[in-house]
Amino acid sequence: MSGGTINALLVDDAEIEYRSLDRMLQKIAAPRYRLDWASSFAEGLAALQSDQHEVYLIDFKLGPDSGLDLIRSARERGLMKPIILLTAYGNAAVDAAATEIGANDYLAKGEFDAVILDRAVRYATRHAQKVAEIAQRLAQTRAVVDELKLETERRKNVEAELSNVLGRTVSEQEAERRRITRELHDNIGQSVTLLQLGLGALEHCPVLGCELAQKAAELRGVTRRMSADLHRLAWEIRPASLDDLGLETAISQLAAEWGRHSGLTFDLHLALGNRRLAPDVESALYRVVQEAITNVVRHAEAKHIGIILEVRDNEVICIIEDDGRGVSGDSTQSDAGAKRLGVLGMRERLMLVHGVLELESSAGGGTTLFARVPL
Ligand SMILES: Nc1ncnc2c1ncn2[C@@H]1O[C@H](COP(=O)(O)OP(=O)(O)OP(=O)(O)O)[C@@H](O)[C@H]1O
Ligand SMILES: [Mg+2]
Repeated sequence: MSGGTINALLVDDAEIEYRSLDRMLQKIAAPRYRLDWASSFAEGLAALQSDQHEVYLIDFKLGPDSGLDLIRSARERGLMKPIILLTAYGNAAVDAAATEIGANDYLAKGEFDAVILDRAVRYATRHAQKVAEIAQRLAQTRAVVDELKLETERRKNVEAELSNVLGRTVSEQEAERRRITRELHDNIGQSVTLLQLGLGALEHCPVLGCELAQKAAELRGVTRRMSADLHRLAWEIRPASLDDLGLETAISQLAAEWGRHSGLTFDLHLALGNRRLAPDVESALYRVVQEAITNVVRHAEAKHIGIILEVRDNEVICIIEDDGRGVSGDSTQSDAGAKRLGVLGMRERLMLVHGVLELESSAGGGTTLFARVPL
């Protein structure tokens, strides 16, 4: 609108229609209307594209062309201004077709006067504004949805990459532990054994004096302790039984070892039989049980600990429960700067073999960990 004047455009192939509509609009005192005219589909389309008017009045029949097609084209090109369809035959079908393609109103020729036309322009203008607002909001929502989709995709990629790196790190760590264990056992362990045997021979050598034989015996004692330490160290890093004899044996040894040192009573129900699981699953479950026992010893003040290992419905289930004081509050969350990696680590190890960890606990009622890994 410029200076209180509404610029309108009529697209109609009959000049007489233009003259009569213009006369009708001149009768309206306020607002003032200025009516331009386009006499064909092509001329109308050019005018709609240049978008110089506040309202467009488009005839249903434009010679061989259709006013409806013109409206559709204008809307497809993004024109949001009010458009009123003018038709010689006003009926429900025309009404429906007009609304469908994006007209804001329609008027039946010969059935309206200046007052009705002015009101139709006002209503169509408001309607077009609302439609434009909704379209804008929709576009914004769409942009947000697109951004969210991109973000989700990005996050998924980062998570997959992280999981990859984690998986590689974990399996490299296990391989390294295996290597160190073998090194300790096969090389250093063997040298210590040889040393022990040599010292034994020296100890009983008849040419050695009493004092030196005594020294050799002492050194043999040192090498015996060294050998035992090496054995324990190798076992702690990665029990050979995990590779050679399987998860159940490794867990039994772990429980026996902790039972000796902690005073905890272990109740084991290991029901895999001779079944071997995939090496990464065995490693993951072993590390979960190891961390769970460590946690019970460190935090639970428990007397008993039960470990169940079995296959149910195509899943390996490992349950570790204690009768201790329970996990307090959200202490398993690695927040507040506290470096708590145990439970987090268990979850991550399991996640790498598509498993999950659940933790149930109540104050004074003990803690139960459920680890489940699909077979
Ligand atoms: N069996 C349990 N009974 C009672 N509290 C437990 C038990 N297991 C874990 N918690 C609580 O949950 C917390 C988190 O355990 P988590 O293993 O993640 O960390 P942490 O053992 O403190 O440290 P680390 O990173 O060395 O394992 C513990 O600090 C402890 O308060
Ligand atoms: Mg821990």
